[in-house]
Amino acid sequence: MVQASAPGKCILFGEHAVVYGQPAVAVAIDQRMSVELSLSNDWRIDGMSFHPDRHPHVEALKQRLWDLGPALSIKISGNIPPASGLGSSAALSVAASAALRCARGRQMVDDDWAEGWTAARPGSIYDGPWTSSKGDSVVNGADCVDEDECAILAHAVEAYAQGGRASPLDSSACAHGGCIVLSDKIEDNLNWIYTRSLNGVSWHVHSVDLSNIDDVWLVIGSTGIHAPTSEQVEKVANLIKEQPGKMREIETIGIVSRRGIAALMNGDMESVGRAMSENHLLLRSLGVSCPELEVLISAAAPSSLGVKLTGAGGGGCMIALTRNPKMTSEAIELAGGRTLISKLASDGMKIDNDDKAPLWNPHE
Ligand code: MEV
Repeated sequence: MVQASAPGKCILFGEHAVVYGQPAVAVAIDQRMSVELSLSNDWRIDGMSFHPDRHPHVEALKQRLWDLGPALSIKISGNIPPASGLGSSAALSVAASAALRCARGRQMVDDDWAEGWTAARPGSIYDGPWTSSKGDSVVNGADCVDEDECAILAHAVEAYAQGGRASPLDSSACAHGGCIVLSDKIEDNLNWIYTRSLNGVSWHVHSVDLSNIDDVWLVIGSTGIHAPTSEQVEKVANLIKEQPGKMREIETIGIVSRRGIAALMNGDMESVGRAMSENHLLLRSLGVSCPELEVLISAAAPSSLGVKLTGAGGGGCMIALTRNPKMTSEAIELAGGRTLISKLASDGMKIDNDDKAPLWNPHE
């Protein structure tokens, strides 16, 4: 059996605006998705026959990493509510990429990759893997798994599922964990990891160390309403087409995000909270909030440093940055929301079991 897991994410600043190249911040949360693979007589997901159209993310990864490979039984588990803006699909894609790579191993040549996807090589994520003929050795198990590769593959799959419009925010946060900042330029004071481009938009992906911040929590409140990201992203695109002046909101979200990033780096959580609440007002004027989110946000506000919807909106979840997680969580629950509590920046993708790796050697 091979098992990998990846965290969900919350967006602190910049959702939707990031699709247009504005800066945004996401943090990995404590809630995770896990993917377990074992050899099987036929393709199964959670004991049922595998239908590619019901699991497009897994199908897309299977084509890239397991083409012609033996049948697998795939078990998916986790505590990230689906379609709620918490990155469940990106976490699933990252965990599945990690598990599949772990289960197939990686060809190496002269101690370098002979196959794979990496930001260190030129070319778009759709150009296919950087690959050579059979290498001179193979690395198996956890040692061959790479966060960058999982992030690239998850972004490709997310973009496909969102009709080509997807930033690498969710996929990078779920792969690397911690705190991820996307920006339209390389930020001198942040740790630049790589740059991704899709459909003429480029994002410079950075990480920020938040390990010194330990006295604030995120309380996540779910409306229980499922709102597909693709529909919300399209709604904003249509709004901007009909009312080009709404691009001002997108640009202002970018300015607020920059203020939020500076506050995060200074450890000034009061200012982080204020910027989050301001960001929410701008999202509301883009039409991606809804009455159910507003009720939870009003309930959480008095005990929080900042409150906003998180992710695509239209339902899904809100987040509250708070020093009183119990009080904030109770307020949200009383208003009808289900809550989760997370610290601010959790661990990234992990291989939890590679005892049986490899499950397939495609290069023999
Ligand atoms: C979804 O979690 C975040 C959006 O900004 C879409 C994206 O970044 O691809 C709404």
